[in-house]
Amino acid sequence: MDKNTLLALDKRLIWHPYTQMKDFEKRDLLFIDRGEGVYLFDKDGKRYFDTISSWWCIIHGHNHPLIMEKIRKQLGRLDQVQFAGTTHEGPILLANRLEGMLPQPLKRFFFSDNGSTAVEVALKMSFQYWKNKGIEGREFFVSLERGYHGDTLGTMSLGGVPAFEGPFSPLTFDSMRVPAPYCYRCPVDPDNYSPESGRKCSLECFRLLEERVNDRADRICAIIVEPLLMGAGGMLVYPPEYLKRLRELCDRTGAHLILDEVATGFGRTGKMFAFEHARICPDFLCLSKGITGGTLPLAVTVTNEEVFQAFYADYTEGKTFFHGHTFTANPICAASALGSLDVFEQEDVMARLPERVSFLQDEKSRLLDVPMVGDVRGIGMVAAFELVRDKETRAPFDPALRVGWKVYLKGLEKGLVLRPLLDVIYLFLPLCTTKGQISRLLEDTADTISKVAKKIGY
Ligand SMILES: Cc1ncc(COP(=O)(O)O)c(C=O)c1O
Repeated sequence: MDKNTLLALDKRLIWHPYTQMKDFEKRDLLFIDRGEGVYLFDKDGKRYFDTISSWWCIIHGHNHPLIMEKIRKQLGRLDQVQFAGTTHEGPILLANRLEGMLPQPLKRFFFSDNGSTAVEVALKMSFQYWKNKGIEGREFFVSLERGYHGDTLGTMSLGGVPAFEGPFSPLTFDSMRVPAPYCYRCPVDPDNYSPESGRKCSLECFRLLEERVNDRADRICAIIVEPLLMGAGGMLVYPPEYLKRLRELCDRTGAHLILDEVATGFGRTGKMFAFEHARICPDFLCLSKGITGGTLPLAVTVTNEEVFQAFYADYTEGKTFFHGHTFTANPICAASALGSLDVFEQEDVMARLPERVSFLQDEKSRLLDVPMVGDVRGIGMVAAFELVRDKETRAPFDPALRVGWKVYLKGLEKGLVLRPLLDVIYLFLPLCTTKGQISRLLEDTADTISKVAKKIGY
């Protein structure tokens, strides 16, 4: 079928995620045909830089030959089998290798198949842990405003992005959301941060969390955060010290610490896992997206022996964790994850990363001079540019103007997939992106933003 026939069929049949379909009434969706390294190619052969790593999952570039080979070898051997009461080689080898990469307490691996379910599993395990231990009343979760943990009702109950969760609020459970460490719009004092010179505070925002938690310390089941980088809430970056204090707070109050590393895991922040920047260890770690290098769906929730033992009992005691998904630990997905770990080893990815990270983090600041760019922030291979109506007052644009969307459309002309988060434009780069590519990308991004600024008469 030719491209136009396929696009017409798409328009007639398909409902795309996170997409207002009416936006495409008179415009075609970007029709991707193939991927290679950091690039995507459309049906007409036009090349696009995959600046957001295909929704934050691609780690080593598209179609890495080593991962493809691993998948090929698995095909024809075992395609799928349920994981209840059954096992197979891939997930065993994968858990064994992940155990070697994680702090010693994290040694029990519960597989599932996407980021939302990895978090959902952690929430349910934490909740049932207290029941299994016979401890009453610990039923509240604490999370951050502007946090994002997935699209299931459980994870939405902890999310803090009103546009996503709003219509469903009557369906979600009660939780405690506290102001996020959003430095550019500091919840304590706007003078605590300037885009040019950064943060000059003692993390007073942590007190907002601490006070709320202390008020109900014995009712809290777990505290969940995205460590150091809050993705969907606007690519907010906060310091490791915040995480350290959070670990101490959990130790003091007994609440579990759940780290949602669905987006940050596997090198994106410059360390294999973001929590390493703070030298702490969570009670639950949620991984997905990059676990397979971004090639196939897989997720894992990792916890410690203490949690595992709270469920380990005679069947009749009713302590079993009744949760599972059809494609849990799928053999082909597990093979791709092993392939991705092979790439990390064979290409010495983590040793080569710091140079690229420093380059991106140093060079990104140049965009502060670009019209509309109010703040520039970043960590690891991520850089974000918040567009504002007034740089002085930090006043945002009227959402109806859809400035971020306009930048996205302009970027496509230049061969960039700059899918924004409202008015935050960001680069979420594969770890294999070279310094030359980063340099060009920053230039093209700046140019794209400038053109849109001119067009809207900024
Ligand atoms: C931090 C975080 N948690 C959970 C999720 C949900 O993952 P999935 O889309 O695979 O359900 C995402 C997705 O973007 C995420 O960024």
